[in-house]
Amino acid sequence: MSRRSIGVIVNGVTGRMGYRQHLVRSLLAIREQGGVPLADGTRIWPELILVGRNETRLRDIAERHGLTDWTTDLTAALARDDVDVYFDAQLTQQREKAVRQAIDAGKHIYTEKPLAEDSAAAVELARAADAAGIRTGVVQDKLFLPGLRKLKRLIDGGFFGRILSVRGEFGYWVFEGDWQPAQRPSWNYRAEDGGGIVMDMFPHWHYVLAELFAPVRAVTCVNATHIPRRVDEAGRAYPATADDAAYGIFELDGGIIAQLNSSWAVRVHRDELVEFQVDGTEGSAVAGLRHCRVQHRSVTPKPVWNPDLPSGESFRSQWSEVPDNGEFDNGFKVQWEAFLRHVVAGEPFPWDFMAGARGVQLAELGLRSAREHRRIEIPELGR
Ligand SMILES: NC(=O)c1ccc[n+]([C@@H]2O[C@H](COP(=O)([O-])OP(=O)(O)OC[C@H]3O[C@@H](n4cnc5c(N)ncnc54)[C@H](O)[C@@H]3O)[C@@H](O)[C@H]2O)c1
Repeated sequence: MSRRSIGVIVNGVTGRMGYRQHLVRSLLAIREQGGVPLADGTRIWPELILVGRNETRLRDIAERHGLTDWTTDLTAALARDDVDVYFDAQLTQQREKAVRQAIDAGKHIYTEKPLAEDSAAAVELARAADAAGIRTGVVQDKLFLPGLRKLKRLIDGGFFGRILSVRGEFGYWVFEGDWQPAQRPSWNYRAEDGGGIVMDMFPHWHYVLAELFAPVRAVTCVNATHIPRRVDEAGRAYPATADDAAYGIFELDGGIIAQLNSSWAVRVHRDELVEFQVDGTEGSAVAGLRHCRVQHRSVTPKPVWNPDLPSGESFRSQWSEVPDNGEFDNGFKVQWEAFLRHVVAGEPFPWDFMAGARGVQLAELGLRSAREHRRIEIPELGR
């Protein structure tokens, strides 16, 4: 068995996503399994260069995982000949500059979403990457959730007939930080630091809707800052200037209407932190992170509205669980493996910078819809 080493810069490795999902659950997990196998038996072996701002924290992480290559100097790391890939999980606001630097250095690039803070910048990055002849990718992890994989299987198998609508609920209560620490970083709640739930979640909703159902043609969005004051990591109170909830309606090709609520100010009375109900002429499904339940038209009950009588039906129990019928690995890791195969062996990878730019565009137009109190049609983004 031959091994093909590939140098990967991991920038933002001290952050929540950079550390847990990308370093530990993806790249280190890939090394633990012996690399990413290619069809000819070669295994791609990521050699990791940790990059960040804080020396002590970088050293701690490196030592904890038996790694030796780390630096606070991104420019020097990008200048190395043994580096093939730049990965970015920094704060969103820092991304554009670093990605541009990586393009100039001729490295292939994989990055967290959103690709940039506005679609013009995102398209510029896509064009610059094309011109430099490098391979690009943007994280689209929700596509690899077991619940959504099962939903996709149902769609591909024709279960729904004609799909009519999608209703999604995403969110949970993010603590204000006063009497219990917040479970998300405070920058998410400050517009001036690139925060806000529309910019955070609409890029996800774009690829979920477009890949599972149909292209998104129009958006109508109302957003809110329900909690106007929060307390940061250092215990200081600050004004929350970014939106913490978004109520969106998305019009898709084929007349499909998707209505998705995203909120960090909602208490969960659901089975999972995200759930999508899909209704079609032949059947319906409710898919979450892990589970997917269905009800076919042949077993659909016929409720009659009568508020004078208690409902005699147990509606939830009338749905059936879709079996896994396979193993589901961590979604971030699955996408990393696909990106590494794309870089090394040229295997197809559709989730490139242009796909990332379309996600940024939906967020941008969602924010505009909210600001201008109107429905916005979504123009095609050209390369
Ligand atoms: N795919 C997903 O499901 C998902 C989920 C959450 C966040 N994200 C994305 O991942 C990125 C990081 O989010 P996170 O929740 O890990 O954030 P975080 O605050 O935990 O981490 C931010 C990282 O950026 C670094 N950084 C660089 N310059 C900085 C600066 N000037 N100020 C502060 N930090 C700076 C920090 O050191 C840290 O490593 C964001 O772009 C976010 O949109 C993706």
